Amino acid sequence: MKSKLCEMFGIQVPIFAFSHCRDVVVEASKAGGLGVFGADTYSPEELAVELEWIEKHIEGKPYGIDVLFPSKYLDVSQQKGAAAESVIPPGHQKFVDDLLERHDVPHLPDGQEEAIIRDRLTRGRSTPAYSSALLDVAFAFKGVKLLVSAIGAPPPDIVARAHAAGIKVGGMVGAVQHALRQRDAGVDIVIAQGHEAGGHTGEIATMVLTPQVVDAVAPIPVLAAGGIASGRQFAAALALGAEGVWCGSVWLTTSQSDLLPETKRILLGSKSSDTVRTRSYTGKPARYLKNEWTQAWESDQAPKALMRPLQHLLAKPATARIERVRSEPLLGTPIGQVVGQMKDELSVRQVYLDMMDECIDSMDRVNHILGDS
Ligand SMILES: Cc1cc2nc3c(=O)[nH]c(=O)nc-3n(C[C@H](O)[C@H](O)[C@H](O)COP(=O)(O)O)c2cc1C
Repeated sequence: MKSKLCEMFGIQVPIFAFSHCRDVVVEASKAGGLGVFGADTYSPEELAVELEWIEKHIEGKPYGIDVLFPSKYLDVSQQKGAAAESVIPPGHQKFVDDLLERHDVPHLPDGQEEAIIRDRLTRGRSTPAYSSALLDVAFAFKGVKLLVSAIGAPPPDIVARAHAAGIKVGGMVGAVQHALRQRDAGVDIVIAQGHEAGGHTGEIATMVLTPQVVDAVAPIPVLAAGGIASGRQFAAALALGAEGVWCGSVWLTTSQSDLLPETKRILLGSKSSDTVRTRSYTGKPARYLKNEWTQAWESDQAPKALMRPLQHLLAKPATARIERVRSEPLLGTPIGQVVGQMKDELSVRQVYLDMMDECIDSMDRVNHILGDS
């Protein structure tokens, strides 16, 4: 395809695949698109291991990495010596413990929950300093050709370092004013992510947001994200002025995805109305699968979700407990409204082929309606 982004990265098709799973990233780049690895859930040491694996399997294709540069954050690493009880209000912990007890989910053995919290406190995860440490690792890998900053614009020194290393910089936005901030920070690509997306998401739908962002940051190329998992949606994004698309949810049910098989099965049976925008996992509004956890946090008895990253410190050990016993009513994942159209476990390559085929058919159909014979 002739998109500016194909030219920028030397790829065949402007479908960018966001995933925390290295196998998905590799398959996406090998399918002719660009895999982008979500680095935030890894420590710098773990990230080095993941990127080494990616470079070994990706056959020289380019790929990207995504980190968080939150514009507002609480640096909990200041409290690294503190016990978990002193950073998490006891009422919140009791609410979680009672909920998990009602579902027969036991505690983790040998102080493992404390260890999860202490690790996050010590490292100060999700702060700009933490993201910079991740990038110190990523900049050493030659296949990394794109760095994407989410939840805020990248600091100037990071943009300069990326550019000096020949790495393009992208910024994820949910509103026009954020897009202008990313443009002023010197990004090469803007990703306009709408309300229907999985993960942290704003108030404005992709259909409305994309053309506004395209106009606001022109001539910077824009990727449309949120609610895109088929060729018809890909074609619509191109019609809105995007140079390509950025997808996250659709990869979760692929055969390469490392999601728990139980969660995959739940997703394959879910409707678009089975997602909810909730603060209950991270403290910021993020679209997740609706389950007993999200419902409990919506109830009148629930405490107010804590500020980011404290809510995450509460949810993280709880998630480890839930996944250990695979308690299905509580299994969760970020997921967008496109879940309602994800019905079969396909390979990443098949998703690419289907999206390309259907995009071409849609364009033919539109041309036909326009009277082009
Ligand atoms: C499981 C999951 C985890 C996500 N984590 C991140 C993240 O760490 N960083 C980020 O920039 N976006 C994250 N996102 C959002 C995606 O990058 C992407 O913008 C979104 O999935 C696009 O909408 P879609 O879900 O409708 O495809 C996540 C999305 C999902 C589904």
